[in-house]
Amino acid sequence: MHRYGSPVPILTANRLCFRYQDQPVLSDASFSLEAGEFVCLLGPSGCGKTTLLNLIAGFLMPSDGELAFEGRPITGPGPDRAVVFQSGALFDWMTVEENIAFNLTCRKRPLAERREMGTRMARLVGLQGFERHYPYQLSGGMKQRVGVARVLAAGPRIMLMDEPFAAVDVQTRETLQEELLRIHAATGCTIVFVTHSIEEAVFLADRILVLPSQKGTDWKEHRVDLPAPRWAAENRLHPSFVAMRETIYRELRKGLADVPGH
Ligand SMILES: Nc1ncnc2c1ncn2[C@@H]1O[C@H](COP(=O)(O)OP(=O)(O)OP(=O)(O)O)[C@@H](O)[C@H]1O
Ligand SMILES: [Mg+2]
Repeated sequence: MHRYGSPVPILTANRLCFRYQDQPVLSDASFSLEAGEFVCLLGPSGCGKTTLLNLIAGFLMPSDGELAFEGRPITGPGPDRAVVFQSGALFDWMTVEENIAFNLTCRKRPLAERREMGTRMARLVGLQGFERHYPYQLSGGMKQRVGVARVLAAGPRIMLMDEPFAAVDVQTRETLQEELLRIHAATGCTIVFVTHSIEEAVFLADRILVLPSQKGTDWKEHRVDLPAPRWAAENRLHPSFVAMRETIYRELRKGLADVPGH
């Protein structure tokens, strides 16, 4: 059993297990997330990162053990836990502001409120001036920002992000990372972010959880200690950044060495 986290958690997993039919994916995982924390999940392909996000989102149910949000077991999806998809998953026939305000449209909120939300969130993600554009008029990075803004507009307590920046070029990706850290500071939203990039995890996270390969059971945890403001690009060259990247790289290589075929 592995226990990590703070005494006043927003999310707790207690001996969480998940199986697809007979295939175990998560075994006996215990951890907790503090409200407002930015946690990155790293781990080899197939180790269960997406499965864990789906459990938190309420799209899947635990096979065993407990998963609770603010002390209550998660029994299904809810507006307090929102997912940002890798593709941004925008509606092509809606403008940027209509996409952002989609949740308010579903709740039949008045046009003025939707416009105000569209404008405010577009500004927050650096898309002011693009409110009336359609997705086909945007770059990949801009679409991804609309996806983040749409989720934020719904006011979730936890934002679940599954490799959201994997499909954009390196420079855009770095800009999006810096913007996400500004948004995190501005909103106080708890973020669970899955990535394959060690650099991305170290740059973004307050804490990194490294899931074991399917054969292992040993979760690892790293607390990131980088200077504020966290979005400062120079942090990518900071000695703590470089040291942690190396530590985690060695750890992941060692984990892979234990898996046949690597
Ligand atoms: N719907 C499904 N039915 C059966 N097995 C599944 C299903 N979805 C995922 N799996 C299996 O569960 C395991 C964990 O999958 P998951 O998608 O959570 O891994 P991951 O860590 O997100 O991998 P990646 O880094 O490649 O995205 C894998 O072995 C996968 O084959
Ligand atoms: Mg995945």
